[in-house]
Amino acid sequence: MDYVGILNKLINDIRSLPINCALAAVSGGVDSTTSAVIVRRAVGDKLRAVFLDTGFMRNNEPNYIKSILSGVLPIDIIDMHERFYREMLGIGDAEEKRVRFREVFYTTLSGIAKELGCDWLVQGTIAPDWIETRGGIKTQHNVLEQVGIDTVSKYGFKLLEPLREFYKDQVREIAKYLGVPDEIINRQPFPGPGLSIRAVGTLTLEKLDVVRRATEIVERRLGGLGLSQWFAAAWEYETSRDEEITRSLRHFGELSVELFKVRATGIKGDARSYGHVALIRGELMRWDIVYMLYDQVTSNYDVTHVIYELASRGRGEYFVSIRAVVTDDFMTADVPRLPRDLLMEVAGEILEDDRVAGVGYDVTPKPPATIEYE
Ligand code: XMP
Repeated sequence: MDYVGILNKLINDIRSLPINCALAAVSGGVDSTTSAVIVRRAVGDKLRAVFLDTGFMRNNEPNYIKSILSGVLPIDIIDMHERFYREMLGIGDAEEKRVRFREVFYTTLSGIAKELGCDWLVQGTIAPDWIETRGGIKTQHNVLEQVGIDTVSKYGFKLLEPLREFYKDQVREIAKYLGVPDEIINRQPFPGPGLSIRAVGTLTLEKLDVVRRATEIVERRLGGLGLSQWFAAAWEYETSRDEEITRSLRHFGELSVELFKVRATGIKGDARSYGHVALIRGELMRWDIVYMLYDQVTSNYDVTHVIYELASRGRGEYFVSIRAVVTDDFMTADVPRLPRDLLMEVAGEILEDDRVAGVGYDVTPKPPATIEYE
């Protein structure tokens, strides 16, 4: 593809718009950063870039992003965590969380845009975001116009989404031409609602803290392996045994299957499903069998994610799932066949947190699961 030609066209198209001031909400991910840098190339200081600290970020994320972007894109950090906590703690349903997050996020941005006198909002929306939101698989936080939200009357700004027709691998190419730092280009995607959708089920400060700590461990231990995304999610360790599914897996080894109380998102056919999460425990005949367990369970039962338990102990309130996927376009994704020893080491480190009672590896590709849980 002629990325120089594409970039020039994007910049010229933006220059032809009547822009006095454009506000960019930058998350430090490649999509929003590249979108903001493109608009800055087009309109210079008429672009104002901010990083909203929602309180759902990973350890030290806002300062880290500000410092690596200092050469290409000056950003202001705006701390809004109290407002997000006030509005979102206690919510349990995945879609309700996403919709509330979107509402708080854009109402906040609308206030900032008014203060700065900006009538455009720059977003890093890319093609899979709106395709999946419109397809009903999930409410992606940054998809507005494509689902019929009139941003001018609701929030007071028009949307500028220079990358809306592109896929992730193309965005990375465009970013290289713009001199976006490699740390940003190679960064794994992190969803806008952040840890709020990885603290699965009812959102609490403690669950957020458990998942933040486990995320740090998984990102550090599984980094550098060529994965597309690798992270942790946490929820209450509340299960009930399922005799029928247990029986159906007899030929794989001495296994038992339990279903968690929380639900998680997946894809069945072309539609979103919100089904059970199955936990499989016990001795496998061979480790490679672990990567086959999901098929039978998700095809025959209302289960979206299948997790093999790596380690557990009697105490603690939470379960932590290690999630790793390999994908080019994030529309489908495979589970990498990570060695058992490595996963056991990571699980051991996560279990050092007294609040964690068990750790497992999610062995479900997309579809039938989604990459995230909510
Ligand atoms: P799923 O879970 O739908 O995720 O398989 C596909 C990709 O999209 C990311 N994702 C999001 N990114 N805002 C974002 O900016 C969101 O609301 C959101 N939800 C999911 C996810 O991390 C994965 O890379």
